[in-house]
Amino acid sequence: MRIPEETVERIRQSADILEVINDFVSLKKRGSNYIACCPFHNEKTPSFNVNPTRQIYKCFGCGKAGDSVRFIMDIENIGYGEALRYLAKKYGIEIEEQEQTPEDLLRQNERESLLIVLNFAKTFFQETLKTTDEGKSIGLSYFRERGFTNPTMDAFELGYTLDQWDALLKEGLRRGYSRDLLEKAGLILVKEGATGGDNKVFDRFRGRVMFPIHNVSGRVIAFGARILKTDKNQPKYLNSPETTVYHKSQVLYGIYQAKQAIRQEDVCYLTEGYTDVISLHQAGIRNVVASSGTSLTTDQIRLISRFTPNVTILYDGDAAGIKAALRGLDMVLEEGLNLKLLLLPDGEDPDSYVHKIGADAFKAYIREHSQDFIDFKASRWLTEAGDNPLKRAEGISDVCVSITKIPDALKRQTLSQRVAQVFHVSEQSVISEINRLLRKQHDQSKKDSERQQRTGDSSGRKPAMSPGSVPSGEPSLDDINSLLDGFTPEHPDMDFPAEAVAPGKFFTDERTKGVRAPLSYQEEECVRLLINYGVRELEPGITLCQYVLSELHDIDFQTSPYDLILTLFREAYSRGDILTASNFLNRRSEASEWPRGAEIQNQAIHLTTPRYEISEGWLKHEIFVPSEEEVGILADAAYRNILRIKKLLAEQRMATLQQLLRESGNKSPEEADQLLTEFMHFKRIDIEISSLLGTVISG
Ligand code: CTP
Ligand code: MN
Repeated sequence: MRIPEETVERIRQSADILEVINDFVSLKKRGSNYIACCPFHNEKTPSFNVNPTRQIYKCFGCGKAGDSVRFIMDIENIGYGEALRYLAKKYGIEIEEQEQTPEDLLRQNERESLLIVLNFAKTFFQETLKTTDEGKSIGLSYFRERGFTNPTMDAFELGYTLDQWDALLKEGLRRGYSRDLLEKAGLILVKEGATGGDNKVFDRFRGRVMFPIHNVSGRVIAFGARILKTDKNQPKYLNSPETTVYHKSQVLYGIYQAKQAIRQEDVCYLTEGYTDVISLHQAGIRNVVASSGTSLTTDQIRLISRFTPNVTILYDGDAAGIKAALRGLDMVLEEGLNLKLLLLPDGEDPDSYVHKIGADAFKAYIREHSQDFIDFKASRWLTEAGDNPLKRAEGISDVCVSITKIPDALKRQTLSQRVAQVFHVSEQSVISEINRLLRKQHDQSKKDSERQQRTGDSSGRKPAMSPGSVPSGEPSLDDINSLLDGFTPEHPDMDFPAEAVAPGKFFTDERTKGVRAPLSYQEEECVRLLINYGVRELEPGITLCQYVLSELHDIDFQTSPYDLILTLFREAYSRGDILTASNFLNRRSEASEWPRGAEIQNQAIHLTTPRYEISEGWLKHEIFVPSEEEVGILADAAYRNILRIKKLLAEQRMATLQQLLRESGNKSPEEADQLLTEFMHFKRIDIEISSLLGTVISG
């Protein structure tokens, strides 16, 4: 069953890449492009690029790239046809195609089939709610009692399932969906009969109101079903089991209905239940999702972080709510998000409370009662502690534990000032406490991994050394010392043969007298790429100049005159210009006006000469050989050049830190810790780059 070619064309025409991608991740404008943290891999600084002119996206981190349709296929994990249907629905384009036959379904992958059958079930439950006597008298009147309006019920696609054994099963089979598929979708149950007897097959959900659970793009992937009668033997809510399309720990109820508002308000309210989300939505507070009875997971927090870095937890003020809030608190911090907490009066949940006091009062309540996690924890401890200094210390320690979860050292530093103020103690004592905890955590994780190794973990690899598994605690002194012993820069200065020294007399740095620093080769190469190929597009819409400058935005060159040339490119680029060889070579050009214009011109001539020498030394540094003009090769050359620059800088910094650490006998433990943390940071960068460059990691 095919979608007519002209419909495909209409869909492609309508599907604007920015609109399509914005449904999944918040894009920020950067120059003529848009950027975001990549939705396909986990990252903290954005390398996901969208070009609206060319209507394409590309992630410089993981390499995923394509157009609107490709994006939907990748993010939803669905095939081409389903992606087109998704976009058609989004843009209200009708697809004239026959109803799907079971053979059609067989041809689709399981994921697609499940989404289709779940969508059928959702529609069936909605119709049951609106058109059957039982649906109207029981389901609909229940929702009315809870104060839900028709638009609200439509927005969340609420439904009802008859109190019968096989209402859905019968209708599903009649429509041609197999029993197997209905079972895989979690809609029916199959109980094996006694030997020889038939299997019993029946609907999972019976006599309940239905809450469809949507994924980010609005596809139904599961159901929550609430019982209406009071029956102690049955759970209040019955939920779909885990299926190919439903992984409970990765889903937030309401994310589809909330994401636009989350972006606009730049904060996400996190609640516990289906009805909390729905009632707040109806009250005009739409940036709300629910973890739906599971305790909050890291995947759920990452899902929120696609749309905003700010989370406010709105939980019941009872003991269970506080406990749940405290459990979620550290996880949110660990993901680097900003967190606030709000407890509702005892006995109220957001649903009941917004009905009680109304939308405006509820909004005011959020404004006035949200606390950051320090105040939240501190107020609890301070009431309990009174004059008891021991309790107080315990409280400080407890708050500090949460602070150690925050990945950003600078943020930790700022927050320790707050803790000191709130508890009326010195900032130094808070910092010491945090450092003590970091060390303790690290020792613990070290012990754990040792225990793991003793109990037969065969990998034998030090977890701290592999880029994939960064340890959660900060490193201890012992650990770093053992690292330091194994550390030698990969490019010690003296490693270069004399013939590698290129012509030119701009290497006057004392340390490298007579020998050229490896970094200078890469800086020269970078400048050469800029001058010769700066205007060339590496990716549609992304020039080499743009790529290089954005990668080097916080880096200055160390070798003259490359530092100067880089600055000239930067200045021109900030005015919207990309310098080319002619800017440098033309005698009458502005170049002669530049500071040290003559020196720069000489360099430019050297760098643009076709007979540009290729010595063994150059090959050793894996520098781009200027015979190739192909975009792929050029892009690769630029990419590797940037990586090498960053690697050399990391090595340089590590060598300095190593030196400082060796002298650390006369430093405070805190200072030493700081150095160690920084060393680890660069070591990780170094390892990561090595693996990107395909360099073998020694040790
Ligand atoms: N929940 C669940 N299974 C249960 C009980 C609760 O999955 N047996 C989940 C539901 O997602 C529910 C949430 O936990 O929405 C919060 O539970 P609760 O506060 O008991 O329900 P409410 O959402 O308040 O629902 P209602 O107001 O209809 O009682
Ligand atoms: Mn409730």
